[in-house]
Amino acid sequence: MDARDLLRSVRMAGSANGWRATRAAWRRQRTDARDLPRRGPERARVPGTALGAEPMPGGGVVRFARSRLQVRVAVGGAVFCGWDGAAPEPSYALAGAAPEADGRAVLEPDKDGWRVVSERVTVLVSRHGAVEFRTPGGLLLRRELPPRWWDATGPAGAPGARWVQRAQTPADARVFGLGGRAAGPRLPEGTYRLWNTDPGGSFRPGDDPLYITMPVQFVVADAGCHLVFHDSTWDGQVTLRDGEEGAGSGHDRPGGSEVRMEGGPLRYWVIPGNPARVLGTWTALTGRPALPPRWALGHHHSRWGFDTQSEVRRVAAAYREHRLPLSVIHLDIDHFDGHRIFTADPERFPDLPGLSRELAEQGVRLVSIVDPAVKAEPGLDLYESGRAGGMFVRDGRGREVRGVVWPGDSVFPDFTDPAVRSWWGGLYRERLDRGFAGFWHDMNEPVSFASFGEPTLPRSARHSLEGRGGDHREAHNVYALGMARAGWDGLRRLRPEQRPFLFSRSGWAGMQRYGGTWSGDVATAWEGLRASLALVLGLGLCGVPYSGPDVGGFTGTPEPELYLRWFQLGSYLPLFRTHSAIDGGRREPWQFGPEVLGHAREALETRMRLLPYLETLAHIARGTGAPYVRPLWWTAPADRALRECGDAFLLGDALLVAPVLEPGAVSKTVRLPRGAWYDTATGRLHRGPGQVLLDAPLGRVPVLARAGSVLPVAGADGSVELEVWPPLEGRSGSGVVFGGDPEGWGAPVMERFTTRWADGEVVVEREGGGEVGYAVRVRGSAS
Ligand code: NOJ
Repeated sequence: MDARDLLRSVRMAGSANGWRATRAAWRRQRTDARDLPRRGPERARVPGTALGAEPMPGGGVVRFARSRLQVRVAVGGAVFCGWDGAAPEPSYALAGAAPEADGRAVLEPDKDGWRVVSERVTVLVSRHGAVEFRTPGGLLLRRELPPRWWDATGPAGAPGARWVQRAQTPADARVFGLGGRAAGPRLPEGTYRLWNTDPGGSFRPGDDPLYITMPVQFVVADAGCHLVFHDSTWDGQVTLRDGEEGAGSGHDRPGGSEVRMEGGPLRYWVIPGNPARVLGTWTALTGRPALPPRWALGHHHSRWGFDTQSEVRRVAAAYREHRLPLSVIHLDIDHFDGHRIFTADPERFPDLPGLSRELAEQGVRLVSIVDPAVKAEPGLDLYESGRAGGMFVRDGRGREVRGVVWPGDSVFPDFTDPAVRSWWGGLYRERLDRGFAGFWHDMNEPVSFASFGEPTLPRSARHSLEGRGGDHREAHNVYALGMARAGWDGLRRLRPEQRPFLFSRSGWAGMQRYGGTWSGDVATAWEGLRASLALVLGLGLCGVPYSGPDVGGFTGTPEPELYLRWFQLGSYLPLFRTHSAIDGGRREPWQFGPEVLGHAREALETRMRLLPYLETLAHIARGTGAPYVRPLWWTAPADRALRECGDAFLLGDALLVAPVLEPGAVSKTVRLPRGAWYDTATGRLHRGPGQVLLDAPLGRVPVLARAGSVLPVAGADGSVELEVWPPLEGRSGSGVVFGGDPEGWGAPVMERFTTRWADGEVVVEREGGGEVGYAVRVRGSAS
């Protein structure tokens, strides 16, 4: 038992589930000791020297003494590399069939091996199995060294090979991503585990791993950007080391990244290009992000611990009384009957359909939490029907795996089985009938409380893995992805006319196809606030653009200043939701005094004004994979200072938001990318690259608008207006407006506008001609 285990067991000892968690931990340990295939003797292997190569469409196969490597450039520019016969499929990450090979790219001999030249990247394979990715101009993006395997030499059924793949990157390269990491956005040197984990209690920047881990690295360097994705779902780790320019005798020491996996195929994709192109190609491969309904871009209020449905009604009424716009209320596990999913407490929440109708009249939707664990209770319909259908995860002896979650002893649907997904998806009928409009997947790492050891299922637990069969070591990281797919597909069947709204605590590469995520249980502290932004930025670079933190932090009670700064940050993020733990303080804006209330109202009003812009960004994310919230280097990746900058972000093309993330601040130093930027508070113009000091009193978040931007905002009467920030004299600018079906599947409507100076005036024109059709508001002073 390590210190963290000890802490956990002490915390749990007092809880109702404490003794069960101890029993479950022992059970888990015993099951694994009995059923987990033993690692017998292993033999280390490297590819050895090359023996020959065969060209194929998009690249070819190089044969080595002890392995072979397939290199294939796909249409769109992504490069696939698979060792030992690994193919792109099957893959949980891919949205469909792997993209076609780019027939123009062919493997050909080169001086020290082979090369594949394609439009965006040249791939060089050395005779010893190193693979280099270079820009068309010859600059090195990444060098993957020959891999190493540890092959099982034991009896059949022994686990497959473990492997390690080391890579070098340019000395100036910086790495982002790896899923949701509190330490980011730019990931410092260190080791990051690839095993979805509920950290328990709450987390801070030092805690790793968290709920969403992904073997996805977004690398930014002077030579160019690329994304590398190691497509194995197994437990693993990534170790990053910064390079150093002019290290030692004046030579650069390259940056290092080492991926170690406990199993799974050794295959990876490399996607080169500018950031927008990388995300475009990545989300073409793994699926474009789901488009949230318009209402999901408004303000959400949640708490764990609403006592009764009257309390929910009172909270909604108080939002109205305080003139605070509210779009969504979330019901946590406390509305269930004894924490059993797909139920409602008949006394405390007797009429959810009535409540949801009443709230709908006020423009407020209800979202329901959905946990995967089903109470293992004989006689309980859900349990009995799942048991009869063989829906739950079993151990090596065919017995249901028991764990412990909120309802007590529980079983877990096997979401890697298509039949289970289809059954589970049908269960959302009950939720829809109760009036819920959206869904919040939780505890799906999956969590099973344990007073020691890992708080999840035994590694030996059996899973379908789409009929291939395997165990939890391979299924763990994609458990939540399967649950999201089940929910998404179910909702599409049950309510085909509406876009599902789903967000999930855990997930894996490709999860954006089904929805978004949130921070999970972020600690109520200034460092928790900073981690909140890091998570949203990092996830966006992994293709998951819709997320946001628990505003105010999950635990305890934030001081008013911290609450307000969190509220202000949240108001610029895609998911803007206040939430707190059952034993945490309240998070309604009026709980923090009149000054905070006034400023929170201003933040909410700004959010409402920006809704048309956020909706446009949601469509852009859907269409191109570009996240709403982007790092400052998005359009200037060669600006090294911006790579280190984690305290500000771009919201789409037009805005730069510099939230206050420190206590006591009255001003903030903001680093500007190149270009001209208006301070939206004063209208003053600032030139980047460089730094500016902007006022940031308690009520203000410094926000800058890019000169030449045209963005849609909601006017005083709610109708869309164009806000125009003049281009520099002699220059022009532009912007797009997306609109259309707020909740359904109707094709979006895109309009494009340009702006320029003519005779000393700023004019706005619709591209393609015709009336502008919107009120135009010119802001800023270009003098
Ligand atoms: C853990 C989630 O992270 C949190 O948001 C939720 O309130 C609790 N589970 C209870 O459902």
